[in-house]
Amino acid sequence: MKPLSLLCLPFTLLFLGQAAHAEGNAVRGAGVFQICASCHSIQPTRNLTGPSLANVWGRRAGTVDGFLRYSDALKRSGIVWNDKTLQAWLADPQSVVPGNAMAFPGIRDAQARTDLVAYLHAVSEGKAPAPQGVARGGMMGANEPADLRQAGADAQVASIRHCRDTYTVQRRNGKTDRIWEYNLRIKTDSSANGPRAGVPVIIGSGMRGDRFSIVFAAPAEISRAITEDCS
Ligand code: HEC
Repeated sequence: MKPLSLLCLPFTLLFLGQAAHAEGNAVRGAGVFQICASCHSIQPTRNLTGPSLANVWGRRAGTVDGFLRYSDALKRSGIVWNDKTLQAWLADPQSVVPGNAMAFPGIRDAQARTDLVAYLHAVSEGKAPAPQGVARGGMMGANEPADLRQAGADAQVASIRHCRDTYTVQRRNGKTDRIWEYNLRIKTDSSANGPRAGVPVIIGSGMRGDRFSIVFAAPAEISRAITEDCS
C-alpha cells in the first residue's frame, strides 16, 4: 500500500462513521448515558428509579408496562418519544413537562444531547454500542441493586434482635453487628435480583462503615424477622 492511501484511511473511516450517525455519535452517547444509568436501565424489563429505556423510540410517554411510578404530568403529556421530543426533554425536562418526577436538571451541551439521543435510538433498534473506555459491567447501572440471590453466608442474615435503640444483627457466618437503629435502613427488593424468600441480606455502606441496609424479599417478612429482645 502506498503511504498516501494509508494516510487517507483514517479520514475515510471518520467520514463513513459520521454518515452512519447523521444525528449524533451513538458510541459517544453510550458514554453520556452513564449520567442516566443510576436511574435507567436499557434492559427491557428492568425498572429502577425510572422506567426501562430499552424501547423508548416511538413509544408514548408514560407507558412502560409494570412501571408504577410515573407522574400524572408525564402520563397526560401526550408526547411520543422521537428525535425532536427527546432532544427537548433532555435539554430541560421541567419546561417540557412541568411537574414531572424525573429529578434531573437537563443537559446543556447540545452535542452531548445529540449523541445521547443517537444512542437511545440505537438501543431501541437492538444495536446498543458499548461505551468506549468503560467496562460494560461497570457502566450499566452502576447503582443498580446487586444480585442478592448470590449473596453468601457472610451477608445472609440469620437473626435480628432489637433492644432500646440498637439492632443486633447476626449473619449466617456468625458475625454480629450492633447497629444504632437510626443507621439501619430496611428495604425490600421484589425483583428477580432480590434476596430469596426468608433470606434477608445485609449490606454495609457509608464512609465510616456505620450504615447498613437489610434487604428483604417482601414487606411481610420484616416484622416477623425482628424480635424484641434485651436478654
Ligand atoms: C434521578 C433519577 C433519574 C435520572 C438521573 C434520569 N432519569 Fe429519566 N426518568 C426518571 C424518572 C423517575 C422518570 C419518570 C418521570 C415521570 O413519570 O414524571 C424518568 C423518565 C424518563 C423518560 C420518559 C420515559 C417514558 O417511559 O416515558 C425518558 C426518555 C428519560 N427519563 C430519559 C433519561 C435520560 C436519557 C437520562 C440521562 C440524561 C435520564 N432520564 C436521567 C428518573 C431519572
